Amino acid sequence: MTTNGKVLIFDTTLRDGEQSPGVALNVEEKLEIARALERMKVDFIEAGFPASSPGDFESVTAIAKEVRGSAIAGLARAVQADVDACWEAVKHAEHPRIHVFLSSSDIHIMHQLEKDKERVLEMAREQVARAAKYCPDVEFSPMDATRSVPEYVYKMLTEVIDAGATTVNIPDTVGYTIPEEFAEFLRQIQENVPNIHKAVISVHCHNDLGLATANSLAAIRAGARQIETCINGIGERAGNASLEEVVMAIRTRADFFGIGTNIDTMGIHRTSRLVSQLTGMGVQPNKAIVGVNAFRHQSGIHQHGITKMRETYEIIDPNDIGLPHGTTLVLNKNSGRHGLKARLDDLGYEMTTAELDNVFVAFKDLADKKGEIDDRDLDALISGERRAVEDIYKLDLLQVSCGNQLVPTATVRIVGPNGKMAQTTATGTGPVDACYKGINELIGVPNQLLEYTVNSVTEGIDAQGEVTVRIDVEGRTFVGRNADTDIVVSSAKALLNAINRAIAHMPGEKEVAMAGNP
Ligand code: KIV
Ligand code: ZN
Repeated sequence: MTTNGKVLIFDTTLRDGEQSPGVALNVEEKLEIARALERMKVDFIEAGFPASSPGDFESVTAIAKEVRGSAIAGLARAVQADVDACWEAVKHAEHPRIHVFLSSSDIHIMHQLEKDKERVLEMAREQVARAAKYCPDVEFSPMDATRSVPEYVYKMLTEVIDAGATTVNIPDTVGYTIPEEFAEFLRQIQENVPNIHKAVISVHCHNDLGLATANSLAAIRAGARQIETCINGIGERAGNASLEEVVMAIRTRADFFGIGTNIDTMGIHRTSRLVSQLTGMGVQPNKAIVGVNAFRHQSGIHQHGITKMRETYEIIDPNDIGLPHGTTLVLNKNSGRHGLKARLDDLGYEMTTAELDNVFVAFKDLADKKGEIDDRDLDALISGERRAVEDIYKLDLLQVSCGNQLVPTATVRIVGPNGKMAQTTATGTGPVDACYKGINELIGVPNQLLEYTVNSVTEGIDAQGEVTVRIDVEGRTFVGRNADTDIVVSSAKALLNAINRAIAHMPGEKEVAMAGNP
């Protein structure tokens, strides 16, 4: 089946990416990522797994109702209830897709499905046919295909294409295959599946051996015309093939691949930042394309070369991924609302007047403390403002004393629903520990701090410190984040943000009795 001479990009950041340990996005955050993917002209957005939870159903529905530029897919196991739920969620899209999956490897069939192989084939046929009755666009994935008996995969693919599958996706579910082997498997599929010309061949590669991008690229050479990716390569375990690596490899080596994608690469940098901020999953500094070091040159010889001609040591122009060449427009405390709005428009932020009002107040406050504000500061500031909007418990006052001859002590005052205030003083091993003890004493939501990281948003001693925390509340992980020029303040706000998110997920009453003195 033709794809108009392009490799289609099926982004699964919101489904497989959200399966990364510790990641939990709310509907508004998923919508924001979906809008960014749509702006990048991603062909398919896998918005979630509707039957897996009411929250997933709600977010897939919301994305299907709003996003128009990209097709919207939902995942379904090969069972009737999943296919029905998936259709109910994706049916609002301009171009909906149902993605049905079922294991094909002996190890999964025997130990997980505990069914005989004929029955598994029948389930695949039946549910693809059911999906095709609802929707003209159906994808089928034989899960763990690369560890399956090839002849069984050929049979399964032949039958699901007959039943109505229009895309067949070959998942390397456990990241086991090697590029040459995978390419050969795809060639064999094309030789042994007689109706394969009726479907687009797709691949979905995991990164357990660090080969997800390499396997995806080998698959293109062997005829795959859809690649499944995640922004920043997030996903189950070691993650999925990263969108930015696959897309920029195809673009940079157009001479080798002889084919392109529909992606607007200018959105890569911003979308990578957005996904990292909302998921709380940092990007490793040396990550290809989107790591902070990806366009930094340390050696004198390299720096010399770059200043004479960029191409001496750079194969990608950073402008092509939306990373300006040190020419970011800098705002300061004299900048007005119009200047700020114009910059935010350029960066692609869409804001209501009320949101802009809040951001402007926070911007002025930051500019007073720090002088020059660049795009990275704005990204951090907006992310913090947006995350805090739903917070019902906010930090009103924080005062700490610490030093090598003092017991670290924090006085914390929190404002809760209806303006109710509570205050306490706590001591700890350091100022952040003292302040966390105070917050936990005031808001009685037992939690365990799993991870605490602080990163500098920009260079310089006056930079904002961006704090990300991950907490466990009753077996679920919640991420909190905040940036401030004072890292004890951003630490306190990040923990509050995570606790607020945990409270928002609690069934029933959202109000928690605050302890401490008013
Ligand atoms: O890794 C996998 O096999 C999957 C399928 C559902 C496509 O994520
Ligand atoms: Zn996967």
